[in-house]
Amino acid sequence: MMKGGNLRRFMGRPYSLTLVAFMFTTIFLWSWEKNPLVTTSLLREDQFVLPSPGSLNTKEHTSEDHLHSEVAEETRNFKTEQGFDTALTNITAAFSLERKDNGKMWNSSFEKKVCNYAKGRWVADRRRPLYSGFGCKQWLSDMWACRLTQRTDFSYEGYRWQPENCQMPDFRGSDFLKRMRDKTIALVGDSLGRQQFQSLLCMVTGGEERPEVEDVGWKYGLVKPHGAIRPDGWAFRFPHTNTTILYYWSASLCGIEPINANDPGTDFAMHLDRPPDFLKRFLHQFDVLVLNTGHHWNRGKVKANRWVMYVNGKPLEDRKLAVIWNAKNLTVYSIIKWVDSQMSLHPRLKAFFRTISPRHFFNGDWNTGGSCDSTTPLAGGSEVTQDKSSDPVVEGAIKGTKVKILDITAISQLRDEGHISRYSIKSSSGVQDCLHWCLPGIPDTWNELLCAQL
Ligand SMILES: *[C@@H]1O[C@H](CO)[C@@H](O)[C@H](O)[C@H]1NC(C)=O
Ligand SMILES: *[C@@H]1O[C@H](CO)[C@@H](O)[C@H](O)[C@H]1NC(C)=O
Ligand SMILES: *[C@@H]1O[C@H](CO)[C@@H](O)[C@H](O)[C@H]1NC(C)=O
Ligand SMILES: *[C@@H]1O[C@H](CO)[C@@H](O)[C@H](O)[C@H]1NC(C)=O
Repeated sequence: MMKGGNLRRFMGRPYSLTLVAFMFTTIFLWSWEKNPLVTTSLLREDQFVLPSPGSLNTKEHTSEDHLHSEVAEETRNFKTEQGFDTALTNITAAFSLERKDNGKMWNSSFEKKVCNYAKGRWVADRRRPLYSGFGCKQWLSDMWACRLTQRTDFSYEGYRWQPENCQMPDFRGSDFLKRMRDKTIALVGDSLGRQQFQSLLCMVTGGEERPEVEDVGWKYGLVKPHGAIRPDGWAFRFPHTNTTILYYWSASLCGIEPINANDPGTDFAMHLDRPPDFLKRFLHQFDVLVLNTGHHWNRGKVKANRWVMYVNGKPLEDRKLAVIWNAKNLTVYSIIKWVDSQMSLHPRLKAFFRTISPRHFFNGDWNTGGSCDSTTPLAGGSEVTQDKSSDPVVEGAIKGTKVKILDITAISQLRDEGHISRYSIKSSSGVQDCLHWCLPGIPDTWNELLCAQL
């Protein structure tokens, strides 16, 4: 809602009029250049969003759905990567200049309001979920489709994330595919990455059957080896837009190789400082890359996988690095540094590192009776107010690189009711899954945040 007080204060000062004129001119000229038709509606009074010291996009805070979607529609029409953001930057710069003359009016906090997608709040939204949990049979694993289990409460499906100072366009599958024409989107990581992959396919299709979509896994060597339960990943091509969405399973994001290829019972060298071969081989074909790792960095999983940690091509001797968290830290820094080094060779690539997905085991861990059976959404609050990420390793590692952070940790931390919990298709073993999420659900929001940042 337009804040009347702000507006009057705004209009009351002569120099502010210059400012208003400047802003209108900037947006008008710029958007006219983009699309003369959009401009007309943009300048309708109820459409125009006057930045107030309190908020850059006050309109986004309205709870009226129709209004929201209109604004989002406009946003979609005129937001281009440099376009809208640059215009805003210029306006902000102009405000800062004005502020020098009158520090009291334009508080310095205003210019600090940079867009941080991870800061904001969950809001109830009747237009969620974006696909039905009874549908999307083509891609959604039964074990993650909570609608197919004995679970009876689905209130967790009805929320969307509203960042505080960022435009959050509504997701539309067809628009997304058009934007991704002739592009390949690759998600590489652990099973949480696979959840995000399934979520994206369901979002793009609205959960509808798409017989024309081609399985192109073979192009990436993603075929089921003899005797294996499943391939190391999947790739699907949407023929109308020539868009490929793929997932590759790499739980550690390390280069893994058998220590003795002739021994069926061999251990595997886990090269902490080498990217997975799959990435070395196919990175040049990707336009969007989303990496993640996290939940396999514990002694149990390393041992079960028969991984032996290596650095510089040699088994690890450094005692400090042998501590698993330091090893993980080294790998996250290494892979990000490597991707960054490749980005100048592949300028069209946009790379993201998704921060860790939080677990919510209460009263025990996964193997000691831990549970997550709350069905009350947002019992712990609906807002993230911190500026920093709750995943300092990823936040530190992307600094100074061209790799972007897809920061979902604190956001997802608020959603303990959205896990698989005790439910499964088959009768429950008593062990709860407070790590993976129900789909549709929280990973859909990760994809919305990804799309907003593309
Ligand atoms: C923003 O300002 C810069 C100069 O400061 C100018 O080159 C650029 O064209 C402006 N962009 C827009 C969208 O007004
Ligand atoms: C401006 O913002 C700062 C915090 O950034 C606050 O301490 C100060 O009181 C504000 N001043 C005015 C005039 O609003
Ligand atoms: C599909 O897109 C790829 C790039 O991702 C391009 O190399 C290829 O030629 C395209 N195919 C068609 C049929 O347009
Ligand atoms: C992780 O590694 C980086 C680079 O080697 C180092 O600067 C940082 O302090 C490490 N962080 C932790 C938590 O060990």
